[in-house]
Amino acid sequence: MASQDPLVVFTPSGKRGRFPAGTPILTAARKLGVDLDSVCGGRGICSKCQITPGVGEFSKHGVTVAPDALSEWNAVEGRYDQKRGLKPGRRLGCQAQVQSDVVIDVPPESQVHKQVVRKAASARVIVMDPATRLYFVEVEEPDMHEPTGDFERLKRALEKQWEVKGLRADLSLMGKLQKVLRKGKWTVTVALHRDHQAEKSTVIDIWPGLHEAGLYGLAIDLGSTTVAAHLTDLETGEVKASSGIMNPQIRFGEDLMSRVSYAMMNPGGEAEMTAAVREALNTLFEEIAREAGIDPALIVETVFVCNPVMHHLLLGIDPVELGQAPFALATSNALRLDAKELDLTAINPRAKTYVLPCIAGHVGADAAAVALSEEPGKSEDLALMVDVGTNAEILLGDKSRVLACSSPTGPAFEGAQISSGQRAAPGAIEAIRIDPETKEPRFRVIGCDLWSDEDGFTEATAATGITGICGSGIIEAVAEMRLAGLVDASGLIGGADKTGTERSVPEGRTHAYLIHDASAEGGPRITVTQGDIRAIQLAKSALYAGARLLMDTRGVDKVDRVVLAGAFGAHISPLHAMVLGMIPDVPLDKVTSAGNAAGTGARIALCNVASRKEIERVVRQITKVETAIEPKFQEHFVNANAIPHATDPFPELLKLVTLPKVSFNTGGDEGDGGRRRRRRR
Ligand code: FES
Repeated sequence: MASQDPLVVFTPSGKRGRFPAGTPILTAARKLGVDLDSVCGGRGICSKCQITPGVGEFSKHGVTVAPDALSEWNAVEGRYDQKRGLKPGRRLGCQAQVQSDVVIDVPPESQVHKQVVRKAASARVIVMDPATRLYFVEVEEPDMHEPTGDFERLKRALEKQWEVKGLRADLSLMGKLQKVLRKGKWTVTVALHRDHQAEKSTVIDIWPGLHEAGLYGLAIDLGSTTVAAHLTDLETGEVKASSGIMNPQIRFGEDLMSRVSYAMMNPGGEAEMTAAVREALNTLFEEIAREAGIDPALIVETVFVCNPVMHHLLLGIDPVELGQAPFALATSNALRLDAKELDLTAINPRAKTYVLPCIAGHVGADAAAVALSEEPGKSEDLALMVDVGTNAEILLGDKSRVLACSSPTGPAFEGAQISSGQRAAPGAIEAIRIDPETKEPRFRVIGCDLWSDEDGFTEATAATGITGICGSGIIEAVAEMRLAGLVDASGLIGGADKTGTERSVPEGRTHAYLIHDASAEGGPRITVTQGDIRAIQLAKSALYAGARLLMDTRGVDKVDRVVLAGAFGAHISPLHAMVLGMIPDVPLDKVTSAGNAAGTGARIALCNVASRKEIERVVRQITKVETAIEPKFQEHFVNANAIPHATDPFPELLKLVTLPKVSFNTGGDEGDGGRRRRRRR
């Protein structure tokens, strides 16, 4: 490189260097370490290397770019433009050569390490750096005089053209290799997998010529009640489709402990549950690929996050040890597997699987995924992160230390065990307000933006009907009932004589609040019963007690902010969660929603291989707190039974709302009433 050689400046990186005239832009980019993509290795067929050259005065860079700073548009570019079309002003970086000083912009889609902005509230980005990538190579033809195997020549080509050192392949791949090489006339695209621990790359698949149909991975949040999968493009990070199914293991037990008991009581029960979940996963994978219109064989990676019991049942390990202290896991480390070891046969036969590490016997890979997504260990202020599900994963921490626990909330927050409860689907009440004067409700259902007292609501909901209450709806309903004075602090629903509304209807020896009655037309009668309130009280007490236990361990009485996560965490109203006493008292603007943080954690691990190393390091530094054996937990649980709480003050909440001082308990004060009832349960 001589000093009079043309100067090439890349934006947005600002990297610059001098190169002899005639140097292709792709070569200059590689030498300077500029992030410019290429799958075909500069052969002008993949179009990944597109760049936009600038012309004119660039005073910022001290460069004036002449119109002929790059070589002329060549035949390869012409052909590509004709066939596929290049955007105006674009060139192929592997074809355009430097002639004089030039400024080259690398558009985001041409960067290998693309940044994918998450849709959630935080501005966190995922840098694309997946474990599996595509490489286009030209392989030497066999030669009678120099006998070598096709695989060895493929290996040599990858080493020479892509600096891939070390290569391994399954026997099943060898069977395919010869046909594909010949079909592609000795040019092929290979998908190579190399994760953070592998020394060699593994061939996952091979296609003749240039493979343009892409590569995909699945990020899977395997929950006790639902299984959610996100089909992700491994080149762009884009989520192509998301789909979920109910966990078929529900038939063996609604919650985790009942599934552990099923395994204890029934010989072979764990194998039955393993088979059920694996079969459901294959069905889900087929469905999601169909929905996205892609060949399932292009799914080359899966990443799982799950709680410890689901973790063992997925892996085919008896979860019995997780049912009793000291809750020993068979392994807490992250796992790198072949998908076929888990019978995941609906996808590429050589696909790889990564299972995030567990934190401890009760705190699983789902909590690790929340830690990866929400990064409590990097927080300046003290953050409480709650992943609401059948089991709540709770993390409390900041830069100095992170604590974690898991609390058995049960399925009430997901609308299960609630008399009019249902899963979040069109027709389900998701939001509700109760007028404190008239005690009349108005509500909104999923699938319609109108409130029930707005014009057009009846017509707009005619198709779906009003079918029940989902998780976020029941949280709002109970909180609104408390605010309207229909429920007292101990959780008792008042009768019509005390509340002054005919919507307080008798139900056995207790009362219920009538939200919607379509029984005259053969529709549902939607109420919140005393039993529903009790189920929600148990769930929220478990959640709050878990959070309090972490706060005790940390030696604090309050936190700086709260993050609500979970498949439906995003839909929970922070104000109502606080009225209910699900979460500790903080200023309302300090409660944010992170959406499905565990699922996001899985997607980060899928798209960025370095994050796997990171989470494996981070989990070792998280202190887990065991709720099941901690006597303080019970005390916190009992106190948290009241709405919002028997003893903890909620000053921030009381700045926003007034909690009516009503009591429907005929003997004793409210708080004690709640406590006594709890003990009798
Ligand atoms: S590198 Fe493939 S077209 Fe330029």
